Amino acid sequence: MKKHQVRIDTDKCVGCGICVKTCPAHNIELKNKKAKIILDDCLMCGQCTAVCPKEAASISGYEHEDTYRNPEVRLDPPAVLDTIRFRRSIRQFRDKKIPKEIMDQILEAGRLTHTAKNMQDVSFVVLDKEKDNIEQMAVRLFQKIKPAVDLISPMARRNKIDKHFFFFRAPTVIVILAKNKTNGILAAQNMEFAAEANGLGVLYSGFFTTAANHSFKIKKALKIPRGKHAAMTLVLGYPDVKYLRPAQREPLDVRYL
Ligand SMILES: Cc1cc2nc3c(=O)[nH]c(=O)nc-3n(C[C@H](O)[C@H](O)[C@H](O)COP(=O)(O)O)c2cc1C
Repeated sequence: MKKHQVRIDTDKCVGCGICVKTCPAHNIELKNKKAKIILDDCLMCGQCTAVCPKEAASISGYEHEDTYRNPEVRLDPPAVLDTIRFRRSIRQFRDKKIPKEIMDQILEAGRLTHTAKNMQDVSFVVLDKEKDNIEQMAVRLFQKIKPAVDLISPMARRNKIDKHFFFFRAPTVIVILAKNKTNGILAAQNMEFAAEANGLGVLYSGFFTTAANHSFKIKKALKIPRGKHAAMTLVLGYPDVKYLRPAQREPLDVRYL
C-alpha cells in the first residue's frame, strides 16, 4: 500500500465540485453528486484537502494535523520589498549561538517549501560539532586546486584560502540536500527569510556547496544519500556588521510580449 492516499469521506462530501476544479492532476470526478478519486497515482499535493469546505477530502499518512489559515495574517507589501532590497550577504558574525526555537523555525520554513511534482525531496544537515572538521576538508580541497584557478582569475589570486574561507566563523551552517536542485534553492530562500525575520544574517556558500558535491570525503562526512546532492549551503549567525544602504542593482530588465 502507498504511504499516502487521497480519501473522500462521502458522508461529508456535498458534491460542490470545488476539488474537481482545483485538482491539478485532474484526478477527481463527480459521480452521483459525490467527489470520487480516479487513480491512486496522484501528486498528493493536497490542493483538494485545502479547498474542501466540508473537510471531506483528506490525505492519509501524514503525522501533522491540518490547521486553518488565519486570514488576519498578511504580508505588508512595502515591508516585503524592503526586506529584499536591504538584505546583504553576511560574512562577519557575532560569537553567539542561535537558539533552538529559531533553528526550528528556519528548518520548518525549509520543510514547508513547495517542491516540483510535490517531490518533497529536500532534507537538511546542520553542521554542529563537525562544522570545523568538515570546513577543513573543503579548505584542503580548495587549497589544492587554487594554483590552477589563480592562473585564470586575478580575483582568485587576491584571495587567500584560510581556515575560515567557507563559513566565516559563523555559529551554524545548514547544508540543504535535494534530488532536484531548484527545490533545494527554493527552500534556501524561504529559510533565509525566516532567519532574517529573527535578526539573523545569512551567506549562501556556493563554494562550499561545490566542494561538497565534488569531494567524496565531504559527501561521506555529510552522509549525502544516493541520488541527492548539496543544493545550497546556508551560513547563519547574528551579524557583526550593519549595512546602512541597499545593494545596487542594474535597472529592471523585462519585456512584455
Ligand atoms: C548562489 C549563490 C552563491 C554564493 N556563494 C558565495 C560564496 O561561496 N562565498 C561568498 O563569499 N559569497 C557567496 N555568495 C554571495 C554573493 O557574492 C553576493 O550575493 C553578491 O556579491 C551580492 O552581494 P549581496 O548579497 O550582499 O547583495 C553567493 C551568492 C549566491 C546567490
